Formats: sequence, C-alpha cells, structure tokens
Amino acid sequence: MLCLGFTQQLHAFCLNLKKIPALSFYMCGIIGYVGKNSATPILIDGLKRLEYRGYDSAGIAVRGKSAFTVVRRVGRVDQLAAAVAKAKPVGSLGISHTRWATHGGVTEKNTHPHVSSDGKFALVHNGVIENYQSIKKFLIEKGYTFSSETDTEALSNLIAYHYAKEPQQSGTSCFAESVRKSLLHVQGTYGIAVICLDCPMELVGARKGSPLIIGVGDEENILASDVSAFAMRTRNVVYLNDGEVVHIRPDGFTISTITQEEVAAVVQEVDWNIEDSELGTFKNFMEKEIFEQPAALENAMRGRFSDDGSTAMFGGLNLSSKELRYVDRILLCACGTAWHACLVAEYLIERYARIPVEVEYASEFRYRNAPIDKNTLVFVISQSGETIDTLAALKEAKRKGFRTLAITNSVGSSIARETDGGIYQHAGQEVGVASTKAFTSQILISAMVALYLGRLRDLSYEEGRTMVDALRSVPNHVKEILKQADYIKSIADRYAHFKDFLFLGRQSMFPIALEGALKLKEISYIHAEGYPAAEMKHGPIALICEECPSVFLVTGGEIMQKTLANIQEVKARKGPVIVIGPKHCREEIQADEYIEIPDVHDAVAPILATIPLQLLAYHSAVKLGRDVDKPRNLAKSVTVE
Ligand code: M6R
Repeated sequence: MLCLGFTQQLHAFCLNLKKIPALSFYMCGIIGYVGKNSATPILIDGLKRLEYRGYDSAGIAVRGKSAFTVVRRVGRVDQLAAAVAKAKPVGSLGISHTRWATHGGVTEKNTHPHVSSDGKFALVHNGVIENYQSIKKFLIEKGYTFSSETDTEALSNLIAYHYAKEPQQSGTSCFAESVRKSLLHVQGTYGIAVICLDCPMELVGARKGSPLIIGVGDEENILASDVSAFAMRTRNVVYLNDGEVVHIRPDGFTISTITQEEVAAVVQEVDWNIEDSELGTFKNFMEKEIFEQPAALENAMRGRFSDDGSTAMFGGLNLSSKELRYVDRILLCACGTAWHACLVAEYLIERYARIPVEVEYASEFRYRNAPIDKNTLVFVISQSGETIDTLAALKEAKRKGFRTLAITNSVGSSIARETDGGIYQHAGQEVGVASTKAFTSQILISAMVALYLGRLRDLSYEEGRTMVDALRSVPNHVKEILKQADYIKSIADRYAHFKDFLFLGRQSMFPIALEGALKLKEISYIHAEGYPAAEMKHGPIALICEECPSVFLVTGGEIMQKTLANIQEVKARKGPVIVIGPKHCREEIQADEYIEIPDVHDAVAPILATIPLQLLAYHSAVKLGRDVDKPRNLAKSVTVE
C-alpha cells in the first residue's frame, strides 16, 4: 500500500499498489446503471460525458419486463440519443458504451452492447480478448452463434455458456459466478459491465487493464469508465482494481477477486467541479479550456511556494531533499502533447537545476531497453494518467528498480496509482481531445520542479525569488494574451486555406513549435511541421514559398538575433511569416502578422507563447468547419499500442 500525498482532490486518498498488465487496449467509455430511477436518461447523459473517450459508434441495452431493448448506432451519441428517443427503452437496469473501434469495423453490428446468442446477457466491454478466436470456436461447437466481428461477443456468449451449466436454483446467485468463471478463461484486457435477463436489478462489472469505477448513490449504483459519467449524481466512488469483479444491486455491492477472495471496498469522496464538464457559454470544450488557463495555472501553483517565496514545495513526491540530491539524471517519458511538455521540462531542469535530462517517447522507451544510470529518476507526464505507453514505461522503470514520479491531471488514474510519487495538476477535467490547459499547466509545474531541484543545488535565493515572482505572474499574462483572441481569429480566417505550415522556434520555443504544429494538424487537418528554427536550412527551407506560411516563436533572449535572421531567410523566399514574439521586437521584425506576448522570464515564456498557437489552431479549425472537440480518428486517452 502506497500513500501518496497527492493532495486535495480526493479525501483520504490512499493508493493501492496493484499490478496492471503491460498490455491494455481499451479506448472507449462504458456506463451501467441499476437503481430506483429510469436507466435510459442516466445512461445517455453519462455517454455524452464519456464521449471524448471514443466516438465511432454508441449503444445502449435496457432490461425491460421480459427482454432487453438494445439500440445501437454508428456515429455520435446524439445519433444514438435520437434513436433511443424513438425506441423509448423502459427499465431501471441498463448498460451503454461509446466506442473507438479496435476489433471489427465501425458498423452497427460491431457496436456494443453485445447480447449472447441465447438472449440472456448483454455486455459492454473496453479492451481486447486476445484469445477470442479459440473461445469462439469452442462456443460455435456448442451451438452458440455470432453476429459481429468483435472479440467482445465471445465473452457474452462464454458467460451464457457458464450460466447454462450452473445449477439454476436462483438466477441471482449464478449470474456473477458465471461472469467470474468466464473471466478465468480470458486472456487480454477488459473493463466490462454485464446485465442478465433473469436478474432484473443486478449489474456485474470486472476490470483488468481498463479503469472501472463504482458511483455509490442513494438506492442506485453506477458503474463507469470515469467519474465524469456520474458526477452529477454522486461523488462517492470506489475504484476497482485489476482482477476484481463487482456484483451490484441498487442498495449495495460486493467485490471479490476473480479467484474468489473477498475485497473490502473503500468508498472515497471525489472533489468534482461539475462546471468542468459543462460548456457554459462557450461553443465547445477546446475554446472553454483555452480560456480556463489562467485558473488552471493558478491551481497548479496554489500552496506550492515556500513562505519566503524562494522555492517550490510539493506534498506528494515521497522523496526527501537528501534523496533528490543524489539524483544524477532525469529521464522524462510521455506521449503527444505531454511529450512536448517533457521537452520544455528538459530545457528548464537542465538550465535551472543543472541536472542532465533525457526525454523519451514512452512508446519507444518501453521496448528500447536503454541503459540507464543507477541514480536516474524516471518522471512521466500524462494528462489522463491512462495513456498505455506512458503507463507501461512507468511500470518498466519500476520493474528495473528506478524511483518514479508522475505529473498527471487525473486523480485515481492508473498512472497515479502506479507511480512512487507525483504532482497533481489540478487543471480540472480536460474534455476537448486537443490538450490545451493540461499542457500549459504541465510546463508550469515543470518550471516549479526545475526551481525546486535548482534550489537544492546551485540556484541562489535571489534567483529563486525572481523565478517565483515570474511564475506567479503567469495567470495575469495569460489573461492579457487571451484578450487578443479576436485578432488571432482574424489571422486564422486569412490563413486557414493554406495546406502546409511550418512552426519554428529555438531552445525552449522549439517544443512549443512542435506543439503548435500538432495542435493545428490534429484539429484542422492542415499539414504542419515543427522544426528548430536554425535547422530549417538543412531541408525544410525547400518547402518555403508563397503558399507555405511559417509561424516563428521569438524570445527576447540572447538568441533573438539568430531567429530574426531565420525570419529574413523565409521572407527572402516569399514565405508568409507570422511571428509570436515580445512587444519590444515588433518594430524590428518584418513579419506579415505579429502577435505580441509580454517580455517575461525565460522560464515562463514557453507558456505564454503557447496561448496564441492554441487560438490560431482553434480558429483555423472552426473556419474550416471541423469538429474541434472530437477530431476525426482520435480519442482523448490513447490506450491502444
Ligand atoms: O493523457 P496524456 O497526456 O498521456 O495524453 C498524451 C497524448 O495522447 C495527448 O497529449 C495527445 O497528443 C493530445 N491529443 C494532443 O492534443
């Protein structure tokens, strides 16, 4: 049992150090309901809140008087909701699912829930049943039939098979037992919710490798992939661990392991700001989350500076100053935008703490078997805390005996539960698939880590105080930059028709260039590349023409003149130039467009430069009519390899 002082969000949050399998393949959202109310509206509302986890297709099964009403649709939850409004499923027990396809194409037949061929069981599943072919073969020989290409259907039929074999004294006792017995034969990963026609008020769930949480309500209980699905109804939650099966009724539940050991449930109260999952006056979550950054950045710093304002403090590192002094090297691992945050962290930690840092893609690190010095601290960054490669990298580092830390935004996530210690971001739920407020909060926390480690080494008291002042000023600077949103929109409107963009920056602005390019391509589908500004001459300059705008990130430091020379090189080749740079350089730089950011301490400049890039990507995507919150082919948490 590991108790992390990961602070405020959960009351009495002690973390069980349980093993999560190295492979996991879920990228969907599930919710099940049993209780005194009508299941359908609760399930549809929950699915809408979980939709960011996958949005290829969605389905619902509600137990009526004598049969399940199953409605499934390819497309978004809204399409399912429209179909459900016509079908009007009635009942107080039901399950539902929003899918990011893995096994089987995006078709109605492959959409969950999957009903066993005898009609007794309906099941929703996140994960992959790796041995589904052999289970399917066995069941076909026993007379079970299949109507989808999914691995999941093998499990619903396997449960039906075990149930049919049980001595049927009462359906109630056999249901959970049949699920448990079936899972003993399953290789792979799962988070499941199952209902049985014979058991009108019972819901069974189990997890291995996919998150599953019980929402404990008043004469009702809910099973879901994450808290957002039911936070409107209850904040009392039980986090299931891998290898556990839960048998739920309206007035209670029992948990056991699949090997039949009893498990004592720990009900925890989650702090959940319901406004995080509501749009309010914003058009979509990405816009809302961009504008939430001043508050998210304040929250990242709250209570984390020393009284004399000379260093940062973290409650949950679980490493003493002495232990940290012995850290010779830091290895940072993450994916996507969080990997860009690692690159900024590398720059900050090396500059202010003088500790050598390496940055790895988690997906590469986990299989690369790189030699690592023994006094290395392995630090992962993940907004969701569920990214499979980052989780696997963390576990691999732990397996090799390294101390691990994590920066994550998700309390109770797999990474939060697995790491030796860490720092919660407190950025509030990030719903838009494109990471915005989580990214700037990760950089801010990285700067605080650099400050903290630096003050344990050579960073002076005065330098520490200067840096703390700079960090504290960030939310106000971000507010000022956000006032330029309309101006940035006007630039986006003029440039959104271009097919290719370059994003260029030096030193800590290079990862911001990468992030600007990623933001633009993932939500607008415009091709964009991020490059170190000076490297442009070694190849990408061939792309420069009137049809390829370059976005330059300029800092006012010593390398400013070098970046200005790179801008001239682009201008000389008729490339349109958009500059994000300090106010005082405006006159000096011959740019087609100039977005001002305040002249600030080097440690916080990357945060400020990010905001215009987010707005540029956002408004370009809106101009092109894209679904900014749910871009094609993506899902919020990437939990497939
Ligand atoms: O939840 P994580 O921070 O681990 O997610 C990592 C990436 O999947 C994520 O940052 C992704 O690149 C975003 N879509 C970028 O906006």
